[in-house]
Amino acid sequence: MPAFERIREDIDSVLERDPAARSRLEVLLCYPGLWAVWIHRISFALWRARLRLPARVLSQIGRFITGVEIHPGALLGRRLFIDHATGVVIGETAIVGSDVTMYQGVTLGGTGKGHGKRHPTVCDGVFIGNNANVLGNITIGENSRVGAGSVVLSDVPPNSTVVGVPAHIVYRNGQRVLITDPHDVKDPLSDALIALSARVEELEKCLCAEGVQLLPVIEPFAAEAAEREAYREELERLREYVSMGEGI
Ligand SMILES: CC(C)(COP(=O)(O)OP(=O)(O)OC[C@H]1O[C@@H](n2cnc3c(N)ncnc32)[C@H](O)[C@@H]1OP(=O)(O)O)[C@@H](O)C(=O)NCCC(=O)NCCS
Repeated sequence: MPAFERIREDIDSVLERDPAARSRLEVLLCYPGLWAVWIHRISFALWRARLRLPARVLSQIGRFITGVEIHPGALLGRRLFIDHATGVVIGETAIVGSDVTMYQGVTLGGTGKGHGKRHPTVCDGVFIGNNANVLGNITIGENSRVGAGSVVLSDVPPNSTVVGVPAHIVYRNGQRVLITDPHDVKDPLSDALIALSARVEELEKCLCAEGVQLLPVIEPFAAEAAEREAYREELERLREYVSMGEGI
């Protein structure tokens, strides 16, 4: 595909994905994430031609201008959209499919262990929220979504949503996934929590055996949830009188 056609395709894909984008000229002038991808296409060609130093220098110039650091060796698919750009880092052996969207602060990085393929593979149609870290030689399957601020350390199956630190699956093929075993969270603290709850259960049994009346279990965050609900209702009531730009 000629370079001009690809630039047009990139711009149109931003217009499709970002409701804030109003015209092709605006996208061309105001989206450093696109400039970063275009600079990468040149540095990638230099890298492939074994002009490694010029490729790295160009990639650093790109970083200076856009705030996005893409290693010239990274393989990027078509229509990559890096929104807000700043702070994105894409490592040398990362592979990014087509129609991927990512926000500011995303890192596709290594774990600091090992050589060779040490960065993630991100398949077609993946969405990565701001400041998410995807680390190591792992694969994010087609059309999956990574929550803002997540740290993804293991493979994500296609059509899934992952959130948290470390990230765990909350949606799979449109169905909510509920974690019933704390081990699934893979949090370093989950073992401590499991041990603690087992101990509490044991103590409760002993107390019951002694005939001690236990206090009823308090629903965690119940008061907060009720407060939030009341605030939401108040906002809904106000909305009838106040809308954007009116009523003030
Ligand atoms: C991950 C994401 C795509 C999920 O959206 P969704 O499908 O609507 O999912 P929900 O809002 O139903 O959330 C599902 C659960 O995950 C939790 N969750 C959602 N996003 C989370 C995040 N980033 N970190 C931690 N938990 C998160 C929710 O609290 C909810 O948990 P609960 O049901 O136990 O209360 C979205 O939350 C997100 O992070 N988008 C990124 C947006 C972004 O980067 N914007 C930048 C604009 S500049």
